[in-house]
Amino acid sequence: MTGPVLAVDQGTSGTKALVVCPVRGVIGSGYAPVRPRHLPGGRVEVDPGELLDSVVGAGRAALAAAGEPVVAVGLANQGETVLAWDPVSGEPLTDAIVWQDRRAADLCDELAPLAEALLRTTGLPLDPYFAAPKMAWIRRHLTRRGVVTTSDAWLVHRLTGAFVTDAATAGRTQLLDLDTVAWSAAALDAFGLAGERLPEIVDADTRVGTTGAFGPELPLTGLLVDQQAALLAQRVTEPGTAKCTYGTGAFLLAQSGPLPRRSASGLVGCVAWRLAGRTSYCLDGQVYAAAAAVRWLTDLGVISGPGDLDTVGGGAADAGGVTFVPALAGLAAPWWRGDLRGSVTGLGLDTTAGHLVRALCDGIAAQVAELADAVAADLGTPLAALRVDGGLTRSAVLMQTQADLLGIPVEVSALPDATALGVGAVARLGLDPSLTVDEAVPRWRPSAVYEPRIDAGRAAERRARFRTAVAALLGDGPA
Ligand code: G3P
Repeated sequence: MTGPVLAVDQGTSGTKALVVCPVRGVIGSGYAPVRPRHLPGGRVEVDPGELLDSVVGAGRAALAAAGEPVVAVGLANQGETVLAWDPVSGEPLTDAIVWQDRRAADLCDELAPLAEALLRTTGLPLDPYFAAPKMAWIRRHLTRRGVVTTSDAWLVHRLTGAFVTDAATAGRTQLLDLDTVAWSAAALDAFGLAGERLPEIVDADTRVGTTGAFGPELPLTGLLVDQQAALLAQRVTEPGTAKCTYGTGAFLLAQSGPLPRRSASGLVGCVAWRLAGRTSYCLDGQVYAAAAAVRWLTDLGVISGPGDLDTVGGGAADAGGVTFVPALAGLAAPWWRGDLRGSVTGLGLDTTAGHLVRALCDGIAAQVAELADAVAADLGTPLAALRVDGGLTRSAVLMQTQADLLGIPVEVSALPDATALGVGAVARLGLDPSLTVDEAVPRWRPSAVYEPRIDAGRAAERRARFRTAVAALLGDGPA
């Protein structure tokens, strides 16, 4: 039995750190916000120094709160955020371009003839969401100096001096060969990145070095991209099971087993994790704006925060005829139209804030339901239940809506901070190779289960209304 580990989740809007004891669970936590800048033209940047400071700050705060030594560190990272940096000094050469950033859209349009080949090689549709288009954009427009990598490789270098990335983060670049789990020369060539010095791809449970950033010198033994870390913590280890994390965006991932799988339904085929040399794969889809859409409604003054999803939304029986496609940052899987913007239709003088909140919950839940359908089509079997985590799962209105539109139970994880817990488990595996995944991952239990309360016909009707509104945005349906 090993001692507590420090598990750090470096996310889009902040870093959460937990000290996790194998016996007593979470014994300390820390948090440090980061402030990405939302700029015109769909640009989203963050100061890399802020990312590093937040990792160190949150980690130290968690250790202070726990008041006990830890034996290892694990680090989860936002998947597709990139920067250029000097491999000798470790100094950033650019700001970090955040996963939400759309600036590489033109570059993707240019590469459209290669989209099919890239999808076959990497499992990823061509979209500026992924890392490689942004890396290529940096090379074309900002600097040819240093190395250009995802943010994890930079953070790990600053913490330990190693130059590595885990297989799942590598899978978010569109530069990874999904079959061999190695950098693809063809993909690198397609993005004009041939000859780049890239980090070594390592197993998630690798002892990559030691760091004194949190006080005592500690081994860094776990690295995993955030959504996949949450997948592990939710114990989504059997093919055909799935989870959705409702954070800034909502991210649905389904376990697809030990063989690489490309989606025929517009999802992403990716590495779930490589642990002790064994690769698991997943299919995933994204709703770019979940909490970000709630934040938008809050900034407009319609509600005062996420708590109002229930207090204001709960005051309305339904959306009152309003349909909201919350594509405030475009549409991702299965449509891949990041250029689109959202719509609200069906407004009347009798529309209330409660109706708008209900319509937003419908819009988020309907997108997640489209992703679940795509998973079912790819895997040839419908999901039996959906495990969920993330801040918005505290909304009973949203979770009930989700169960209603999916027609299956929605099981809310009793363990908040699934991402940190997932990478904490990986760090434990990296420290003690004799452990099994089952032993390392905390027990899973739901804090609440939402059963569908409407019949299939009514759910289909509501989803059809949402699809019609999406079709209007896509330009292939009535406005
Ligand atoms: O793909 C983007 C994802 O990795 C970001 O997750 O938790 O930082 O919003 P989060």
